[in-house]
Amino acid sequence: MFLKKLKISNFKNIEEKEFSFSQINCFVGNNGVGKTNILDAIYYLSFCKSFFNNNDFHSIRYEQDFFALHGFYDFKGVEEVYSCVLKRDGKKQMKYSQKSYNRLSEHIGKVPCVMIAPNDHVLITGGSEVRRKFIDLIISQQDKVYLQNLIRYNKAVEQRNKLLKSFQLYHYIDEVNLLIWEEQIALYGACVQEKRKEFFKGFKQPMNDFYQFISQNKEDVEIEYQTFEGDLLCLLKENREKDKVVGYTTVGVHKDDLIFSLKQMPIKTHASQGQQKTFLLSLKLAQFDFLQKNMGVKPILLLDDIFDKFDFERVSRILALLEDGRFSQVFITDTHLERVEKMIGEELKDKTKIFKL
Ligand SMILES: Nc1ncnc2c1ncn2[C@@H]1O[C@H](COP(=O)(O)OP(=O)(O)OP(=O)(O)O)[C@@H](O)[C@H]1O
Ligand SMILES: [Mg+2]
Repeated sequence: MFLKKLKISNFKNIEEKEFSFSQINCFVGNNGVGKTNILDAIYYLSFCKSFFNNNDFHSIRYEQDFFALHGFYDFKGVEEVYSCVLKRDGKKQMKYSQKSYNRLSEHIGKVPCVMIAPNDHVLITGGSEVRRKFIDLIISQQDKVYLQNLIRYNKAVEQRNKLLKSFQLYHYIDEVNLLIWEEQIALYGACVQEKRKEFFKGFKQPMNDFYQFISQNKEDVEIEYQTFEGDLLCLLKENREKDKVVGYTTVGVHKDDLIFSLKQMPIKTHASQGQQKTFLLSLKLAQFDFLQKNMGVKPILLLDDIFDKFDFERVSRILALLEDGRFSQVFITDTHLERVEKMIGEELKDKTKIFKL
């Protein structure tokens, strides 16, 4: 996937900008000029939402009525145009070649993209929902059925929770309805769990390889997928009484988690900051690798503040990965022009465009 041209109007602090891109693109400028916002605009065109804020309206430039993003991509030699427009008083509109989608979820996966940003750290420090979102975003980019099953699963859990909540108020529960939702949860939950298990089988090794390549040592990093065991319908029935008391569903794939470790110890408490950063980068590069293998197209790679996170040696290794053609297009942000020029060096100069903001 190659983003040839990007037009931005009223997106966050960017009033009006148009860029023509190369293979490696660097946005350089002082804090607050809008470097990360440009990456977020590219991310938006892939996921119909911001990487950073959940409220879409926060991305409209202050005191403006709308934002508009237009991306002109090269997909295996054919031009594809995607656009996203949001009006303050309207709904988000995502279009492909001027035609609107029926559902935004139809767009997910059309423009594969991976963002690596400083706030990835929440994957280590945050709650389990952050890690589930991470897996779901990867799998659903290349598997539409997974996304549909997940949406159906979540709806069924929501409905079961409603019944459980109403039990707390009225001390009565509609058993027939409860069973209907439990059967739905069990059906879609099993599909989601199976996909997640399959995903981790192929994900662990590349992740380890990236970690060892960047850190140049043989420490093993591990990801363990933590989920329920056994038949979900039975578990839901067994947990009914408990769930009635707490008012929500306590078992299922919405409780899954990932356990990250380095040399058999939890990353969160036992790894140094540098090791954590390398771990997160490896995780994201493995994500890139997975998408590429499964979609047959190289995702766009967005590296926000990457040079701030690593020492020169580690950055050189990351750039070595760029050089050997693993990535088709990369977007980098940094505050220091000299640092960027030095990093890019002579070999990558012809493939690089530097945008001074
Ligand atoms: N909806 C919005 N309208 C106008 N400005 C906004 C909006 N949302 C964010 N901003 C502004 O965008 C600026 C931040 O831009 P961004 O995060 O892209 O900066 P940056 O160049 O990446 O900086 P740094 O080097 O610190 O990472 C902030 O000044 C913020 O106030
Ligand atoms: Mg920034």
